[in-house]
Amino acid sequence: MPPKLAVIAGDGIGPEVVREALKVLEAVEAVHHPGITVETLPYGADHYLSTGITIPPAEMQRLGRDVDAILVGAIGDPRVPGNEHARDILLGMRFQLDLYVNERPARLFDERLTPLKGKTVRDLDLVVFRENTEGLYVSMGGAFKVGTPDEITIAEELNTRKGVERIIRHAFSWARTHGRTRVTMADKANAIPAHALWRRVFEEVGAEYADITRDTRYIDAMAMDLVRTPESFQVVVTGNLFGDIISDLASILVGGLGMAPSANRHPGRVAMYEPVHGSAPPLAGKDVANPMAAILSLAMMLDGIGEEAAALAVERAVRAAIAAKVGTPDVGGTLGTRAVGDWIAERVRAG
Ligand code: NAD
Ligand code: IPM
Ligand code: MN
Repeated sequence: MPPKLAVIAGDGIGPEVVREALKVLEAVEAVHHPGITVETLPYGADHYLSTGITIPPAEMQRLGRDVDAILVGAIGDPRVPGNEHARDILLGMRFQLDLYVNERPARLFDERLTPLKGKTVRDLDLVVFRENTEGLYVSMGGAFKVGTPDEITIAEELNTRKGVERIIRHAFSWARTHGRTRVTMADKANAIPAHALWRRVFEEVGAEYADITRDTRYIDAMAMDLVRTPESFQVVVTGNLFGDIISDLASILVGGLGMAPSANRHPGRVAMYEPVHGSAPPLAGKDVANPMAAILSLAMMLDGIGEEAAALAVERAVRAAIAAKVGTPDVGGTLGTRAVGDWIAERVRAG
């Protein structure tokens, strides 16, 4: 069976960057022939505002069952101030498809892309494994006396033994299979007693990986050290909210959100790939958004479905673009979104 890719372009710059990723996929098809069939799905703010439907529950089940991978642009629109469609679509996929691993690599392709003085490509090569199904994201809690001076809101942070263990195990196992020697875990156990679970599980699971050094940090100090000594990080594992925050921080160290891809995985199941960035409403429709994060997410997708050579070809083409100073303004270039996509697609075609 040919691999099936479902595409949700979404909102804002989402459709613009996804269009370039699909352009690159066409070039990949011409050279590597993975035979991927693409199905475009309409979910996003426009669809929600015109139909009242975020994503039908049956569709979510179908995605979990019938497709091999999902590529998402971005979800988020100022016309939906409560962001409920993003919770249903994006967090919906993460939670309902149980995609507990949010893999967010931050690798520096060229020294001129980092704002850090004196750091080289060797100093910035890390991957954040963000727990993707629990934490403060689970919407457990509620609000009482809303809009009155006595208003109370509560958001509970969920940490399960199973959830903490599987993401930590994934981080160690990934480190071992990818030749990394150190895993860092970031929490706030000094202030939040519940995070003792993370410390304990990290020690227990880490002890099974004698070849890998265990490093624990408090998230506040870790945020500082990411900037001060990024070379001390190889693999970072942390909870949902901290992972969200430090993945944006890590992205700017390597050129910004326009360079940051991600994968949402549950090994053995369908995976969802997306840039780390959002819909960037002020950039939408201007042909200025950097499509590289979406294109690198496509490369992660190709790798995920077993098309390693095609994945490497796409990544090499992005690296070549950066080396040739081909890029959008956020990475110091002068080209538009489409022109950057054209260049990278052409490079992939050239082999
Ligand atoms: P954002 O990621 O959209 O933008 C943050 C900053 O990065 C802005 O300055 C933006 O211009 C810049 N930026 C982002 N992507 C870029 C690109 N490809 N090229 C160049 N510059 C880029 O974050 P935000 O402004 O906080 O959020 C906007 C909307 O996106 C909100 O609705 C938010 O909820 C949503 N969002 C969605 C996702 C997702 O779908 N995975 C992720 C983050 C935010
Ligand atoms: C991300 C985004 C999402 C998150 C938002 C849009 C719900 O910031 O994918 O990083 O917080 O996970
Ligand atoms: Mn985020």
